[in-house]
Amino acid sequence: MTLSMQPYKGTRDFFPHDMAIQKWMFNRMRAVVEGYAYQEYDGPMLEPFELYAAKTGEEIVNQQLYWLMDRGERKMAIRPEMTPTLARMVASKSHELPRPIRWYSFPNLWRYERPQRGRLREHWQLNVDVLGGDALLADAEVLTLAFDIIKGFGGESHVSIRVNNRRMMDHLITATLGLTAEVGLKVTKAIDARAKIGEEAYAKWLSDLGLNAEQRSRLEDFFKASFEETARAMPCQGVEELQSLFAFLKESGVGEQVVFDPTIMRGLDYYTGTVFEMYDNSPDNRRAMFGGGRYDNLVGLFGNQKLSGVGFGMGDVSMRNFLETHKLLPEFPPAAEIFVSLPKVEFRGQAEAVARELRGLGFRVMTPLTAEGFGVQLKQAVRHGSRFAILFGETELAQGNLILKDLAKNEQSIVSIGDIGKEIGVRLKGSGT
Ligand code: HAM
Repeated sequence: MTLSMQPYKGTRDFFPHDMAIQKWMFNRMRAVVEGYAYQEYDGPMLEPFELYAAKTGEEIVNQQLYWLMDRGERKMAIRPEMTPTLARMVASKSHELPRPIRWYSFPNLWRYERPQRGRLREHWQLNVDVLGGDALLADAEVLTLAFDIIKGFGGESHVSIRVNNRRMMDHLITATLGLTAEVGLKVTKAIDARAKIGEEAYAKWLSDLGLNAEQRSRLEDFFKASFEETARAMPCQGVEELQSLFAFLKESGVGEQVVFDPTIMRGLDYYTGTVFEMYDNSPDNRRAMFGGGRYDNLVGLFGNQKLSGVGFGMGDVSMRNFLETHKLLPEFPPAAEIFVSLPKVEFRGQAEAVARELRGLGFRVMTPLTAEGFGVQLKQAVRHGSRFAILFGETELAQGNLILKDLAKNEQSIVSIGDIGKEIGVRLKGSGT
């Protein structure tokens, strides 16, 4: 039997070029997040199944969770999201942690999804959360931070951040439509799925839930109204929260990209206030680039403490698609900028000494693992993308010299061994690299 070379469906192999992109994206994100004084944390890949059964939401738990029984008969799940782990960790040290708690993480997460553009079974997700502090200032902070990440990539003119409020939706569902909270939760699922399932299935779902024609048409009127019309017709805490949040975001210079979107519900059950998602305006990328919101009761699941939080998850798959679509990725440098040749095995000591000297100066230097003639070695240097090749033989060594070949300029010069680092430095500076 021959083994398949393909990775498991919905997962990716990260070849060096993919790894370079991933590292570059995460380093840029990390710099922005740490600029806002967030600290990095991490947790285990496996958590007890119940951690997600409590609040993560039906779709993920019933259809997407990877779970297993361990050898001690414990039902465990591979994390599909990070927020429950965060809540558990914060609850376990809640009294010791200075408030507000500002934490971030880059977990890999698993969901049994139908793989498609922007959706895989394993993805990485930057998680940024703040717990404690004034709710609306915190909501505005995480949204501004997320915007700054996109701005750092040069992509701010291509995105819109769609914002809604669960408290306002609860008011609509219970006070305006007169439904119970239980039916209300199911209505939010139908709203969430509407674009995916189509109008007919959506209408049937609502009538199956017992909404009469009048309730359905009031719901439709609500979706058609502008935010100002809704604010006038349905004053409530959720609306006030949105008004203040929009004002804060405008002050931060994020107002232009932010739009009110009453259809943003979020699939996860723990959100209680502001909810948001960011989308690429290009039709090539239809999946959300990040999503999140405010959750008031998550930490309380672990005892009777009350600590509310807000945060988002930003996925690596949709972010890379976004950066590729808008040509925002840089060129990545080759593994080595300098290739030190090895004409004969007896010269290994000298070749290594030159290479190590250059590494000490901060250059990335490759040495071959086989002794070969000049021609073969030059070809290797070119294949590996090195800018410089250093060649030498008995004659050069006897005179304390090396041959420096600048492969980008197709120039060659004789340089004394002691000056080689300085000479390469001058040439790199001269070409702006
Ligand atoms: P989420 O909306 O499920 O939220 O995921 C957040 C982001 O992760 C999505 O917008 C998308 O970029 C990415 N993502 C999710 N699932 C996949 C997938 N199967 N393949 C590729 N990318 C994916 C959460 O997970 C919340 N826990 C976020 C949060 C943090 N809320 C508060 N704090």
